[in-house]
Amino acid sequence: MTQKHDEAPSGASGTTDASRPDDSGAAELSTRADAPGITDIASTSDGPGGPDQTDRVILRTAAEEGGLDRPGTVLVVDDVTGELTAAALDRRASDGAVVSWSVSHATTLALRARFSEEITAGHLEIPGGDHPASLAEIAAASRPHLALMRLPKALADLEHRTVEISRAGQVTLVAGGRVKHMTRTQNVVLGGVFTEVRASRGLGKSRALVAAAPREEPPPLPVGHGIAHLTVRGTASTLQLRGIGGVFSGATADAGSLLLLEALERHLVGRTETEAAPIARAIDLGSGNGLLTAYLAAALPNAHVLGSDDDADAVASTRATLDANGLDREDTEVTWDESLFRVADRSADLLLLNPPFHDGTAVDATLVQGLLDAAARVLRPGGELWFVHNSHLRYRTEVEHRVGPVRQRARDRRFTVLSAERV
Ligand SMILES: C[S@@+](CC[C@H](N)C(=O)[O-])C[C@H]1O[C@@H](n2cnc3c(N)ncnc32)[C@H](O)[C@@H]1O
Repeated sequence: MTQKHDEAPSGASGTTDASRPDDSGAAELSTRADAPGITDIASTSDGPGGPDQTDRVILRTAAEEGGLDRPGTVLVVDDVTGELTAAALDRRASDGAVVSWSVSHATTLALRARFSEEITAGHLEIPGGDHPASLAEIAAASRPHLALMRLPKALADLEHRTVEISRAGQVTLVAGGRVKHMTRTQNVVLGGVFTEVRASRGLGKSRALVAAAPREEPPPLPVGHGIAHLTVRGTASTLQLRGIGGVFSGATADAGSLLLLEALERHLVGRTETEAAPIARAIDLGSGNGLLTAYLAAALPNAHVLGSDDDADAVASTRATLDANGLDREDTEVTWDESLFRVADRSADLLLLNPPFHDGTAVDATLVQGLLDAAARVLRPGGELWFVHNSHLRYRTEVEHRVGPVRQRARDRRFTVLSAERV
């Protein structure tokens, strides 16, 4: 499952993001059987399965002016459905290769499963295993002549991806989206990295931007800097935050997370070791920019602290945040993982969770359920989940049912903080 830019930050209304349309990449990748011919690519209507209209305008533009079938390497970026990867494989030159990079760990694994034969045959590389390889590293190493992606709606995400792709050297980028989500500012962002930027012919309600001839002086990779003011074990503190690419909330502290930390701080300060078991292992599930992980590392200096996220930008941001605060010590760990898959059952004393709630603008309860189940699995009996949700949503029963008895720890107009003890 991937961090979605179309998930609304806690308390905010959702926005849509063409780049990561769905969180369910792992389970719902369609099969490759009917990759379209060029006639299908020109079709304006979306059939069931197969590339959608935006994929098709990307592929048509790449075929017409990007050298889709030229010898060399085609880089596919964040292909949640696998359809761009399938079509690029289909159209590659006989000695051409495809590299498909995804920000999401779950999508990476799903693409690997779907395209195992092509990987074994040496036509396709899907980078990233337990550790994410950055898109910049992959672009620099594979030197593609062509890169294909859907336009992220968040400009910070687009800028980061574009700078990363430009590390390939002489590369043409074809980035498509729904016309209603496209803005002039996207051209400006591309123009900061490439000297030529133009729009393709439209296909139905979709269109692509073509960016070619990267500037000679490539801009540095953008990293957002921010700070959070909070109290750590009774001492007023300032934490540095780092936000990379499309990470949730950028380098800004999410207001829901701050409310959770205020309540947790009161609890930890009031807690005496004689009345409670020590916290030896604490986890921040879905660590984003690393705010909660950094608090745990600062407040629990003797605990093993794990920040984990499915999103490679979040993993890089959490690492950078720990580093910026001097909290990157031996027993702090940051992993790229979906729903703590690599964490042992009943191994954690404390788990913090500020989950995604939205799929586009719609509330999607299933996003939270899988994360609550992961929390219930890795908490030891007596271990505690601390959870924040938008106050207008109702989660108490769900948390109680999946984890254990619930206490409300804080509530304001926007957010509610609950804790649940694992039974
Ligand atoms: C609302 S953000 C919270 C980020 C951060 N903890 C904060 O408080 O600012 C939710 C995070 O959960 C991550 N996420 C969503 N589903 C996940 C999953 N199944 N496994 C791991 N991380 C996930 C997203 O990538 C995102 O970074």
